[in-house]
Amino acid sequence: TEPLRVAIAGLGTVGAGVIRLLDANGALIARRAGRPIEIVAVSARDRAKDRGVDLSRFDWVDDTASLAADARADVVVELVGGADGPALTLTRAALANGKSVVTANKAMIAHHGLELARAAEGRGVALKFEAAVAGGVPVIKGLREGAAANEIGHVYGILNGTCNFILSKMEAEGRDFAEVLDEAQRLGFAEADPSFDIDGVDAAHKLSILASFAFGTRPAFSDVAITGVRHVLAADIAEAATLGYRVRLVGVAEAGKNGLFQRVHPHLVPLDHPLAHVTGSLNAVVAEGNFVGRLFFQGRGAGDGPTASAVVADLIDIARGEFGPPYAEPAEALAEQPAAPTGER
Ligand code: HSE
Repeated sequence: TEPLRVAIAGLGTVGAGVIRLLDANGALIARRAGRPIEIVAVSARDRAKDRGVDLSRFDWVDDTASLAADARADVVVELVGGADGPALTLTRAALANGKSVVTANKAMIAHHGLELARAAEGRGVALKFEAAVAGGVPVIKGLREGAAANEIGHVYGILNGTCNFILSKMEAEGRDFAEVLDEAQRLGFAEADPSFDIDGVDAAHKLSILASFAFGTRPAFSDVAITGVRHVLAADIAEAATLGYRVRLVGVAEAGKNGLFQRVHPHLVPLDHPLAHVTGSLNAVVAEGNFVGRLFFQGRGAGDGPTASAVVADLIDIARGEFGPPYAEPAEALAEQPAAPTGER
């Protein structure tokens, strides 16, 4: 059988993780995919950087954009990052050339998901982004498959590992925000620009993707009301604890009479709610379906292993010929459903 041929654009933490995962679990991945998954080309900014993986067996391409037209590749794995710029150019071109795209890029999907989904559907190729929401936690697949037949009333969760780590540490150790942020950055799950984490933008990117997926509405990042964790004090957390609550940065999307409400802000979560027990850099998502009831997903939302797991799971789907619409419904149906509320909820 023909292998699925993959070009990887971007070799940061996640890209190196994808290579390590395919090396370690290649045989079982090939069995489950029905054929081997083979990396045919890689590209990144810095060729010399030591990533702890042997790149000499892959063809190195200097110009990342050229991967979109690389005749050897069936799929481009986009791990460049950033909402616009090279990631978007590459993704548009790859889809236009009839290649499937797998991406972990939540900012790009939050801003351009509908356009890219239309392009993928138009060419009959796949666009998959499980890794973009909650890293290794299979929320897209969970909603797509587990809640496929359900109407979802609301979906909410802890979508940023950096903030959850910071809030958990502040609570456990009574430490200040700034001190704990340094530690999160050293541990490597904060974004290149950590203000995206602490100001709630990263969580809002993920929430808007989840919301359009869950509700079949037009993606609407700009409608998310966002407050981050920058101004949460150790004293606030201690006070909440005395009242039986924990402080968590929670993203909520709920269907109202006139549209969808989306918000990200620090919440007081009662101790008897499962989200209160999501600690450290974990992510968790709760969805309520009208027949399935409450679904609760939890796991690691950042880091090389979890995020690479989601990327390779998407590659396995593509190897098996799953080219369905990127969202739960075709892009045309999404486009017709406005997300923004037009009146009271
Ligand atoms: N900076 C993100 C987080 C990484 O802390 O959750 C995964 O998107």
